[in-house]
Amino acid sequence: MKRSIIVGNWKMYATSIADAHVLTTAVRNGVAKIPGIEVILCPPSIWLTEISSIIKKNPKSFLGAQNMFNEPEGAYTGEISPLMVKEVADYCIIGHSERREYFGETDFDVNEKVLAALKARITPIVCVGERKVKNKPDEPVRELKEALDNVPKSRLKDIIVAYEPVWAIGTGENAEPEYVARVVSKLREIVSDSTPILYGGSVNSKNIKGYAERPEIDGVLVGGASVRSGEFIQICKIWSDTKAIKK
Ligand code: PGA
Repeated sequence: MKRSIIVGNWKMYATSIADAHVLTTAVRNGVAKIPGIEVILCPPSIWLTEISSIIKKNPKSFLGAQNMFNEPEGAYTGEISPLMVKEVADYCIIGHSERREYFGETDFDVNEKVLAALKARITPIVCVGERKVKNKPDEPVRELKEALDNVPKSRLKDIIVAYEPVWAIGTGENAEPEYVARVVSKLREIVSDSTPILYGGSVNSKNIKGYAERPEIDGVLVGGASVRSGEFIQICKIWSDTKAIKK
């Protein structure tokens, strides 16, 4: 059966440990009985250890970092290494457009991080997406090819791709499911059938059904709506109901 993956990217929200605690507990309990989905929570790294202890009690919730450096250790002030991430989390978002835009991450950096994640047995959630122009899938296709440079075919099953058109992130202007499905099919040619490909960009409980109805899309990466527990749980529920997953 195809996987159904819902990622919650908290970005730099949930700014107190108390907020992070309340949000995680609510989501953990809310998604516990929703069939057929895998939920990956990606809090700020400083909360990873705390949150791993909360979600351990639910086999349906997993943990991811939002970023990491590619070196395993060294004099890199302010960075966290793949080895550190792997101590607490099994996933890591790599190459999010906000990292590319505000922190100067290049396609080369993204590729280094993908290779480092795989080496550390972390599943990279590789983000790609065109900056401005709609109906231009060449940009995410090129980004994905560069991100996966030197990745052996046998490891493509250990990667998750998130197609996130930059113009749709945080704007309320989500991409049409049909358009997304078309780009996803192009990205699919680069990876294997066992590589989940998600959509991200202004996903909420009102538009999630449209994505769940498309067999090409294996899940979603939710930003802003993932720090509102009720909304996030609703997204998970509608996804599962639409796919009519029974387990
Ligand atoms: P958004 O963010 O859901 O707030 O648009 C998506 C993302 O984190 O990429």
